[in-house]
Amino acid sequence: MCGIIGYTGNKNVTSVILKGLKNLEYRGYDSAGIAVLDNKKIFISKFKGRISDLENSLKKIKIKSQIGLGHTRWATHGEPSKKNAHPHTDCFGKIALVHNGIIENHDKLRKELKEKGCKFKSETDTEVIAHLISKFYKKSLRKALIKTLKKLKGSYALAIINTDNPEKLLTARCDSPLIIGKGKNENFIASDAPAILEHTKKVIYLKDYQVAEISKNKVEVFNFKNKKIPYKVNTLAYDKESAEKKGYKHYMLKEIYEQPKILSTLFAQYLTPSGRTKFTNLNLKRDFLKNIKKITIVACGTAYHAGLVGKYIIESLTDIPVEVDLSSEFRYRNPIIKKKSLFIAISQSGETADTLAAIRKIKQHNVKILSICNVLGSSLTRESNSIIYTHAGPEIGVASTKAYTAQLMVLYLLTLHLATLKNILDKTKLKKIISSLKKIPHLQKQILRNDKKIKNIAKRHLHFGAFLYLGRNINFPTALEGALKLKEISYIPAEGYAAGEMKHGPIALIDEYRAVVCIANNSLIYEKMVSNIREILARRGKIVVIATKGNKNIKKYVKEIIYIPKIENLFSPLLVTVTLQLFAYYIAQIKGYDVDKPRNLAKSVTVE
Ligand code: M6R
Repeated sequence: MCGIIGYTGNKNVTSVILKGLKNLEYRGYDSAGIAVLDNKKIFISKFKGRISDLENSLKKIKIKSQIGLGHTRWATHGEPSKKNAHPHTDCFGKIALVHNGIIENHDKLRKELKEKGCKFKSETDTEVIAHLISKFYKKSLRKALIKTLKKLKGSYALAIINTDNPEKLLTARCDSPLIIGKGKNENFIASDAPAILEHTKKVIYLKDYQVAEISKNKVEVFNFKNKKIPYKVNTLAYDKESAEKKGYKHYMLKEIYEQPKILSTLFAQYLTPSGRTKFTNLNLKRDFLKNIKKITIVACGTAYHAGLVGKYIIESLTDIPVEVDLSSEFRYRNPIIKKKSLFIAISQSGETADTLAAIRKIKQHNVKILSICNVLGSSLTRESNSIIYTHAGPEIGVASTKAYTAQLMVLYLLTLHLATLKNILDKTKLKKIISSLKKIPHLQKQILRNDKKIKNIAKRHLHFGAFLYLGRNINFPTALEGALKLKEISYIPAEGYAAGEMKHGPIALIDEYRAVVCIANNSLIYEKMVSNIREILARRGKIVVIATKGNKNIKKYVKEIIYIPKIENLFSPLLVTVTLQLFAYYIAQIKGYDVDKPRNLAKSVTVE
């Protein structure tokens, strides 16, 4: 959720922090703040609203500093306001800190601290951390921090400055993402790579229950016994440009347009020149893969929809039954876990709290975990037995687009891999499927070239107060995803439904004020969709239909048609999704909303 950054070095501290915060703003954006050490005093500025407000306020102030931290907030405890914005301080203004996570026992700690005379200035859970450190602080701030952390229940990534140690940043993590960036005569703390990419690609992934002390020339990592421990420096694979807008009005639009290229990258990664799948780093024994008896997929939001599509793909090409669960449900239910099961977690960020909790639960049963993830080195990838990266590059738009189609493509290729190992697919069929998949980037480009038409249809429908999205079979999850995209960025209530369920309830919603998006591409169940369309028309619902190019018959019923190129139904989600992404994007964009930063949302949901 929130974004944190810390810096120590010779550059202009405020501008490094502000720039870093802007690149983290997708994580939360209801308030922002900065703290820097200037002449052994802590200077703090914080604002409700966007980072640009904070930036304007700082223009008038001259600060000479070599060390500081910043925060962009997604409120959990206490409304978005100046007083609740981070950084938070102790009673003496000697310690300032920023936090991402939730302190679950903060009420109890607050009560105890108040009894000991602490004066609280905010309603946040974070403030207890500053007061606790101050209470424990005698000679070593690090020791005080470790004592504090042992008292906390919940999740945290922290960056701390202190007037007695003006050259040092302190940091710690537990269940919230955090990296340390190593530069030349400068070092960084950040929630995520985009904040520091412009300065360094060398990073240390701090692990849970580790603390680090950082000065501009040194990074030292300690465990909770205050013992120095070795660490590994990794090199980030992506560059600064991949996290920029490149002339597009919004990141979301740029990311929609990147999809054909990403799918081609995935072919290069996971297919041999002769068209066989290659997952060289799968780290799972062939024998195990050949004998999988059940697959369970867990994920949240858009990634969950990818999992649902995955069920259709895997079950139609292999003999493996698939169960798909929302991570937030899975973690609190009593799943039946049998031997020879494979557990797949799907996540763009690899930091989603519920998905991490789900895999931790499954780990207790000694089951193999394969993660499909976009962010290298994220918590999910570090905690899984096996990883398939989606190679979609940094996804900045809060509404997930390119990560989704990349997840789908990985699921297609993984399915082919399993089916081949199990000897279920013969060479000819495998060749045919791969040839269809390889056409997809080109076909997606055709849809993108048609984007004016989609924009015009969006224009004609943005006044509708509510939408229903209907699909069947493999495009039922596509309907869910289309509805999610629309509601996330345009705030129009939108519901996705399996078209066959329409008569069991949602039909009651249909009248001339309801827009219904029907996915009716060519497939075995096309006629069933047509029946649904006729039922909607009979009730004067306004239909936008997604149909396959060449289908003239549909014109008899519907005027608003978005055609997708011809493709077998099994692969159609990769095309239909792109049209629905563009449709949602244009509705929100024309309505004038901040598409990349929809209200109340954050890119990675790192709290429960
Ligand atoms: O990073 P993850 O893929 O684990 O995130 C899961 C969801 O939070 C995410 O897909 C969310 O639903 C997006 N805002 C969808 O656009």
